[in-house]
Amino acid sequence: MSGFSEFNYLDGELHAESIPLQNIAEQFGTPCYVYSRAAIVSAYHAFEKAFGAREHLICYAVKANSNLAVLNLLARLGSGFDIVSGGELQRVITAGGDPRKIVFSGVGKNREEMRMALAANILCFNVESHTELQQLDKLAGEMNKIAPVSLRVNPDVDAKTHPYISTGLKENKFGVPVSEAISIYQSSQQFPHIKFTGLDCHIGSQLTELSPFMQASEKMLHLLEQLQSQGIFIEHLDLGGGLGIRYLDETPPSIKDYVSSLCTSTAQLKQRLLIEPGRSMIGNAGLLLTRTEYLKHTPDRNFAVVDAAMNDLLRPALYDAYHHILPVQQKTGEMHEYQIVGPICETGDFLGKNRKLSLTSGDLLAVMSAGAYGMSMSSNYNTRPRAAEVMTDGNQVHLIRKRETIDELIATETMLAE
Ligand code: LLP
Repeated sequence: MSGFSEFNYLDGELHAESIPLQNIAEQFGTPCYVYSRAAIVSAYHAFEKAFGAREHLICYAVKANSNLAVLNLLARLGSGFDIVSGGELQRVITAGGDPRKIVFSGVGKNREEMRMALAANILCFNVESHTELQQLDKLAGEMNKIAPVSLRVNPDVDAKTHPYISTGLKENKFGVPVSEAISIYQSSQQFPHIKFTGLDCHIGSQLTELSPFMQASEKMLHLLEQLQSQGIFIEHLDLGGGLGIRYLDETPPSIKDYVSSLCTSTAQLKQRLLIEPGRSMIGNAGLLLTRTEYLKHTPDRNFAVVDAAMNDLLRPALYDAYHHILPVQQKTGEMHEYQIVGPICETGDFLGKNRKLSLTSGDLLAVMSAGAYGMSMSSNYNTRPRAAEVMTDGNQVHLIRKRETIDELIATETMLAE
């Protein structure tokens, strides 16, 4: 057993659904991201089912994985979307997403992005500051529109996660302090082109405990009560994303337990509940397939130099994140402890440290749990074309993004005439 629902060994060979990864590598080359349609659908259904009869909207956080095929699949399942840029808005619309199910988050929406979202009639802007509100009001006025707004509140809760992805502490750049939120909602008459429709928070990502979510939702409830006592009524409460997944030995709450506890803690509310899951929807539905180029044994270390690198999967280099690395072909040979590294000229270019594997050059490896924040954070560093992406569907495999070419990489650049 591999421990991943749709990636399993069959006769010693790792498969994605019922397709040998070896075949995918031969057909599409490496490095290649492989996603399982069944795994995505099953995560989405787990969220839907856990909400039961409670009025809700799941707004998938596009930043986790923004491939059009992924977005289209989720749109067909009825999902909404959480976007953070004009680019993500265009992706969702191109993929057939319903603009009335889009929330727009982020501390730095620019004018053009606001105009695009106003023109698309999205569900809600998650506004993060007073000045952003002023700008949105002005632009909405120019376009003769009323912008639906939810204020993102910073509940000052410790998400107990990596400091780079913790967002709900008062020292973080996100949201407005609870203490200011009420006065902003009260000042609505200053903003004739804004309608406050929601209240929002997001405290961080890769949370492996329920308690920070509970603390945040309690603070939000308290704030809602205060707003109501001032005669301010809103339509939805958005509790953000953040549910963690298992990379190594973490034991995050299940989707069911997470959603149930959000529903229970907000049981007395009439408002629609929104959530913005990213990682928990797609993280363990994807892997990065890579081929070992060279084995290099030094007196100190054994290195396996593979053809994927930090430009393909940045998480190990940026957060010291752990991803399981599995051999595509199970072997019985002697095991060595390997540093799994890429070809990029930086010591930080590693995918895994101290991994016990039996390897020969040419062997395929699968870097697991790479469906979220893998391809979406990839770059062209070292002028490396970005990887191909495929999605398996039972015994079929579809190319959902072709490998970039070097010609494409340099096509947009120009030299000075003299
Ligand atoms: N909503 C907002 C406003 C967010 O900022 C995020 C993630 C989400 C929802 C989705 O959170 P999730 O359910 O995926 O935890 N690159 C990092 C993760 C950054 C997350 C940023 N915000 C990583 O690779 O771990």
